[in-house]
Amino acid sequence: MGWDSWNKFERGISEDLVHQIADAMVSTGMKDAGYEYVNLDDCWAQLKRRDGHLQINPVLFPHGLKPLGDYIHSKGLKFGIYSCRGNFTCQKCSPGSHGFEIIDAEDFASWGVDYLKYDNCNPAFLTDQKGDYEQMKEALLASRRPIVFNICAWGFKDWMPYTGNLWRTTGDIRDKWPAVLDIIDTNEQWAKYAQPGGWNDPDMLEIGNGGMTDNEYRSHFSMWAMMAAPLITGNDLREMSKSTMEILLNKEVIAVDQDPLGVQGTEVWDNAAGLKAYSKKLTGSNNWAVAFLNRSNLSASVTVKWTDIGIPFIPTKVRDLWTHEYQKTTGNFYKAFVEPHGTSMLKIGTN
Ligand code: GLA
Repeated sequence: MGWDSWNKFERGISEDLVHQIADAMVSTGMKDAGYEYVNLDDCWAQLKRRDGHLQINPVLFPHGLKPLGDYIHSKGLKFGIYSCRGNFTCQKCSPGSHGFEIIDAEDFASWGVDYLKYDNCNPAFLTDQKGDYEQMKEALLASRRPIVFNICAWGFKDWMPYTGNLWRTTGDIRDKWPAVLDIIDTNEQWAKYAQPGGWNDPDMLEIGNGGMTDNEYRSHFSMWAMMAAPLITGNDLREMSKSTMEILLNKEVIAVDQDPLGVQGTEVWDNAAGLKAYSKKLTGSNNWAVAFLNRSNLSASVTVKWTDIGIPFIPTKVRDLWTHEYQKTTGNFYKAFVEPHGTSMLKIGTN
């Protein structure tokens, strides 16, 4: 869980911004809710290496990145950075790490980096994707600093769980409802690979960036939690609306995301009119999370049998994770009402 500069700020990053974001992560309660990584995305470095080393942009980061990492660590947070497996990063702001993996990993480690997002753009002639990511994995291991390795290669390959800690399963998210639905459907295919230590990454969150309604953002957050996805926020933490904060700080939904079993929930039911149910086994014998996602433009009112949505027992405890209330249990059946583009998210159990 954390924050990344790309979705909101793109190239507009700076030392001041990162300081303020780290401060806001603490003052807003995000840190207490579990958000930890403060990640710089593309364009922190200059166009040319010097003596083989990437050069930090001195205008944006006048004190360098070691002091920035120290500042982030002083807040009890962790520091993430970005590079690319090719000759240039995706924005072509700076060289990628190809051929310089050992030097770059050592530099990152010396700055106190805890997380590397490693992108897929501009590959060098005659290199293969797996080989490039393996080289960086080995370089990170050789640096002897524990660094989370995020393979950002826009699609799953079966070598990825052996090489990284998380891997992007889709192209870039957009701050639009259809993009969220597309990602949910694509990410579903690889559900069985999610487990503690290795995660499908359906990309960073857009909540609070303005392109969707609050209902849609609640669905976005609910479904990322159902998918056990990394929760990397992509908004301006310094100025969050009340509803953005209510979503990102919903600890009951976060607990579903972070459940130690590490199961990625999957689709279990479809009413053929745009309402789908997803379920996810949680820690504890009869604990499950269920989400009813209404993909249609009409509100939906449906009655389902628990067994129809994959629950192998009759729940005696049903908690709505958005209203924060227990609901009356109804024997074999559950009646769901879900607003257009909304999600009803439940935690169910028997004690
Ligand atoms: C790619 C990645 C994005 C972002 C940009 C930065 O498109 O998928 O998440 O890092 O590069 O250039």
